[in-house]
Amino acid sequence: MVRRNPVSTEVAVRLESVTKAYGKGNGLVTALNDVSVAMPRGTFTAIMGPSGSGKSTFLHCAAGLDRPTSGRIFLGSMSSDLSTLSESQLTELRRDRIGFVFQSFNLLAALTVQQNVTLPLRLAGRRTNRAHLADTLARVGLTDRAKHLPSQLSGGQQQRVAIARALITQPDVIFADEPTGALDTVTAREILKLLRHTVDTAGQTIVMVTHDPVAASYADAVLFLADGSIVDTGTGFTADQIADRMTHLGAWA
Ligand SMILES: Nc1ncnc2c1ncn2[C@@H]1O[C@H](COP(=O)(O)OP(=O)(O)OP(=O)(O)O)[C@@H](O)[C@H]1O
Ligand SMILES: [Mg+2]
Repeated sequence: MVRRNPVSTEVAVRLESVTKAYGKGNGLVTALNDVSVAMPRGTFTAIMGPSGSGKSTFLHCAAGLDRPTSGRIFLGSMSSDLSTLSESQLTELRRDRIGFVFQSFNLLAALTVQQNVTLPLRLAGRRTNRAHLADTLARVGLTDRAKHLPSQLSGGQQQRVAIARALITQPDVIFADEPTGALDTVTAREILKLLRHTVDTAGQTIVMVTHDPVAASYADAVLFLADGSIVDTGTGFTADQIADRMTHLGAWA
């Protein structure tokens, strides 16, 4: 796959010696062990690794959903790291500057597509620009579904609503945790192409956790975790090359 992204020097997310430990004494688990990495703006990064390797912990720390035990995390142009923020500042940051896409869509059943998509703006007390909303719905191919409820949509369409909801605030970064995990293969490919397209055409930054080498092959860079550490990174991998590396990490032993 050809990457058309200009090389960006601006950093969207940066982790500096991030360690996250759970429990204590004999029950201590180091879920992330001194991880340092930077994701440039306008790039798509996949996080892979065996079960329990720290992928979700990585995502939760990077997104300000969880606080690391030590280390620093910087987002966008912020000069101070996330650990210096209060809970209410973190809540605001997650709402205004970060987009989330989950395996299970997490849409509000009683709200229409349009209401779900504009929810982050309303929570932030921001007015919805109609042209921007129309553009965002068009981008995910849901222009003619704006007034529908989630229950009237297919799984792939529901995930596209979730992507539009993540895009609407033009966040510094979108974090996606297994965004295609609940979809069939064909629908999953459509969602991955859409994510790829938002990176290529809108300069969106995306960080995605996935178990699927095909999904990871849509990313610019793949970061492999094992036992809480980054053990390998690379760009321009094919799905076969990614699967091969995963096998060597013992992921499917
Ligand atoms: N809240 C918690 N309390 C204690 N240990 C935890 C907690 N959350 C995660 N861990 C441990 O931290 C390690 C990393 O977990 P994490 O959920 O980040 O793995 P993962 O790579 O996302 O795995 P999977 O592919 O199964 O989702 C695991 O050993 C896990 O048991
Ligand atoms: Mg996980």
